Amino acid sequence: MRKSLLLTLLAAAALLAACSKPVPAPQDGTALWLAAGRPYADILASVQAGTDPALPPEGFHIYDRDGVRRIDAGSEAGLRYGVYALQRAEVLGQAGPGLDLQEAPFYDLRLLNHWDNLDDTVERGYAGLSMWEWTSPAVPEARIRRYGELCASVGLNGAVLNNVNSNPLILDAAHLARVRAIADILREYGIRTYLSIKWTSPIALDGLKSGDPLDPKVRAWWKAKAAEIYGLIPDFGGFLVKANSEGQAGPQDYGRTHADGANMLAEAVAPYGGIVMWRAFVYSPTSPDRANQAVEEFLPLDGKFADNVIVQIKNGPVDFQPREPFSPLFGKLRDTKMMMEFQITQEYLGFSNHMAYHGTTWEECLDSDTYRDGPGSTVAKMVTGIAGVANTGQDPNFCGYVLAQANWYAFGRLAWNPELGAEQIADEWVRQTFLKPEGLSAKAFDAKFIAPLRGMLMASREAVVDYEMPMGLHHLFAGSHYGPGPWEGGSRPDWTPPYYHKADAEGIGFDRTRSGSGNVDQYNEPLASTYNGLDTCPEELLLWFHHVPWDYQTKSGRTAWDEICLHYDRGIRAVEGFRKTWAGLQPYVAPALYDEVSGKLETQLNDAKWWRDACVGYFQTLSKRPLPTDVAPLDTPIDSLIWRSVQSDRYGLPVHDAQHRPVILPPRPRRPRP
Ligand code: GCU
Repeated sequence: MRKSLLLTLLAAAALLAACSKPVPAPQDGTALWLAAGRPYADILASVQAGTDPALPPEGFHIYDRDGVRRIDAGSEAGLRYGVYALQRAEVLGQAGPGLDLQEAPFYDLRLLNHWDNLDDTVERGYAGLSMWEWTSPAVPEARIRRYGELCASVGLNGAVLNNVNSNPLILDAAHLARVRAIADILREYGIRTYLSIKWTSPIALDGLKSGDPLDPKVRAWWKAKAAEIYGLIPDFGGFLVKANSEGQAGPQDYGRTHADGANMLAEAVAPYGGIVMWRAFVYSPTSPDRANQAVEEFLPLDGKFADNVIVQIKNGPVDFQPREPFSPLFGKLRDTKMMMEFQITQEYLGFSNHMAYHGTTWEECLDSDTYRDGPGSTVAKMVTGIAGVANTGQDPNFCGYVLAQANWYAFGRLAWNPELGAEQIADEWVRQTFLKPEGLSAKAFDAKFIAPLRGMLMASREAVVDYEMPMGLHHLFAGSHYGPGPWEGGSRPDWTPPYYHKADAEGIGFDRTRSGSGNVDQYNEPLASTYNGLDTCPEELLLWFHHVPWDYQTKSGRTAWDEICLHYDRGIRAVEGFRKTWAGLQPYVAPALYDEVSGKLETQLNDAKWWRDACVGYFQTLSKRPLPTDVAPLDTPIDSLIWRSVQSDRYGLPVHDAQHRPVILPPRPRRPRP
């Protein structure tokens, strides 16, 4: 062949290669973050595994010796974590020769809390009915095994199977037999089983006359129940309890304290090594500030809880809002074990319809300094365990949205090591979840797909804060907790948005300063004074701690009113940006996933506009100020939104039309008073 012909052919081949499109790998999100790694069994077979009693029980050490890759571990569980760590390192390209990775979990307790009901509905669940299928005769073993693998792969080691608003029947013989069957499977993955209990179980199940924790009959009942449970499940973890909270009965109904109640249960499970996780989510309708109440009720009990009681505290003082300061209780209790409760399921961040990566939310909270023992007393260091309200259900992809899987993953990773960065976790998740298309170099995949998607995740939570409730605003939700309802009233003031935003003709925000509810002083100095000062309070929490006039001058020099409008506008721009970025990722992602995310982003954008129109429109009826000139005008006038809410299906999920727009219903006619 002549040299010039050869060169022409080579050039043509190079051109063809350059023009040939990458072929996305077929995938649908049902493999979650185990998609890209080698199968567990292959990895295990490829290493030499050994035990090293010097390592912590759940710890592992991966290293090479004499050309052989070894994993030493403190236990079988540690080995499992080691294999998954190696799988992750391989996907991340960090498993080359000389790898030396030694890890152990930061917390012993790393639990998912499932708010699953015995009728298979899931409270605040947006991924289908209960994974455990309580109502069907067979235990869904294959799904539970898959769940076990996913939990183990991120280091989770406990599951509370049922809702904190518990049904007493969970403790009857039939349900306990089923719990045992589930526990037997989960154990294989290093996961302990726990249950939420209803305070009045002895009354409901066996006709006892009282639930008084100091009544010997009640104490005997719980001891017998614990013996029955441990007879079935010898490694049963213990109880999670919601008591004297949101209408649930509890020890206070009998003139006793949270400590009396928790200690009674603790005594019942102590002989078996069980624990009691007692929730601090308490508030009453008459209190002037809901955010104050956990400290008010629990601080006087500090030091009075038994050793195997852990007080489980939501990350913020109100309720899993898109942004809250950390709960002041973390910096107040000294002689009580504390546990973090995060919410993985997106009750307040667009259910499974919106992209809202929580790695950043949780990092912000865990890194917050409580100053309890001087500077550096981060929330992460104050707690001894960590729980997350799960976002799982029967959906084939477990979470109802491929991008919501990132939150389960991030939760597990932070529970293992709270010092990991949200961005690193997002990066790991993307690489393990999305397969590299054929015909695309790893470098190109990094630049063209992984980096943009990671960027979307990292910006996502702030976008939700912006279009739902920026600058410290909170609880502006309509009843379902999906859409906006800043105008909503109701019989309990602390269940209505006006209680929280306090907007009127003069201004907006909840005064929690020393001249207001005094909530700032539940924080330790210097934080208390930082939050108390109008100039020193971080602007992202301004309206959480301060009531300011509409014309208050913010740090940008603009008025509070203008700044609020800008944030809502910015939230919408951010979602528009996500849509655009995602459209550019189409060549690299399987059509099923591309379509799923595209559709959800469309919904998110429409919902974001609805949020802006409702909130800015409503606040404008009070502020009587024009929108700043550099924000987009509202799409829908407030008269068409106020007192309206989104249509819900029978499970309370919002209905959207074919264009992904929320279906807004006219107000229900009010019945005339008799
Ligand atoms: C929120 C949520 C409830 C839940 C409660 C809790 O109020 O809306 O569904 O039961 O928190 O954490 O107990």
